[in-house]
Amino acid sequence: ALPERVKIVEVGPRDGLQNEKTIVPTEVKIRLIDMLSEAGLPVIEATSFVSPKWVPQMADQEEVMRGLHKKPGVNYPVLTPNLKGFQAAVKAGAKEVAIFGAASELFSKKNINCSVEESLVRFEEVMTAAKQEGVSVRGYVSCVLGCPYEGKVSPSKVAEVAKRLYSMGCYEVSLGDTIGVGTPGGMTEMLNAVKKELPVEALAVHCHDTYGQALANILVALQNGVSVVDSSVAGLGGCPYAQGASGNVATEDVVYMLHGLGIHTGVDLPRLLDAGSFICHSINRRTNSKVAQASCKL
Ligand code: HMG
Ligand code: MG
Repeated sequence: ALPERVKIVEVGPRDGLQNEKTIVPTEVKIRLIDMLSEAGLPVIEATSFVSPKWVPQMADQEEVMRGLHKKPGVNYPVLTPNLKGFQAAVKAGAKEVAIFGAASELFSKKNINCSVEESLVRFEEVMTAAKQEGVSVRGYVSCVLGCPYEGKVSPSKVAEVAKRLYSMGCYEVSLGDTIGVGTPGGMTEMLNAVKKELPVEALAVHCHDTYGQALANILVALQNGVSVVDSSVAGLGGCPYAQGASGNVATEDVVYMLHGLGIHTGVDLPRLLDAGSFICHSINRRTNSKVAQASCKL
């Protein structure tokens, strides 16, 4: 059976923009976040507290956090790879953070410059500080269906890292198909392994759409009991440390599918489409959302 409602975690302002070569003006980012909250998105990943040398696009993280208009009931998590990032995030008013690990050693090294084990030690430090501050922590596992550097990734490795994140206190673990290579078969196999270690209520899926499989993979995840889906408005984005990765599945397309299935999201699709056209116009990009393309009467 499919879930009655699905929580969409909008990652556009972070995952969608982090890979843009031209620096997006801070006020555009803030306007985008506000349009997304007005469209009814319950969770909007706002920015990252990572090194500006590594990801220049996210260098205005404090201004974004201070400038966005917090809508009651909406969460605005931010990425924090280590204690330094966590402390800066809290100082800027973050009430929720995300730690981001991987099921692949080479990806971990390229993305956050340490081994998977070292990253988990850093995340423990973040978790301890977060518990003291009453900040909730989300966890990511990247490369759950394949790695740009290692190729195949075993479901048991994904389950192991996901379990570590959950055991240390992450309330939710998002399983990232970072380079969008997964298919419904691989998704089923991986979820079966992870569900042996974590309650399905604590799982989210985070599908990039490089190979056009994201909606199919999400549907399979829903059939497996997952009820939290990450997506990016206009299908923007990609990880700078995963060659060839395209954007996340478009939020517009996920909402269209979910509503078609009679699943409640709380998202107003016309307003979401407005947010998508706003950001595409602002950064001079074509939308990757099929729904937006279909709705655009040229
Ligand atoms: P490092 O160079 O190993 O860090 O980077 P370090 O501890 O050796 O410090 C070096 C310098 O960085 C020092 O400054 C630190 O203060 C500074 P310096 O003395 O040279 O002036 N530094 C920081 N500055 C700002 N914020 C911080 C911070 N930490 C240290 N938090 C680090 C390690 C993790 C910082 C680096 O590798 C980094 O920033 N990586 C960014 C990775 C990233 O943002 N990737 C994209 C997001 S992940 C993703 O997209 C996947 C996801 O969507 C899920 C999926 O699709 O699978 C989540
Ligand atoms: Mg991603």
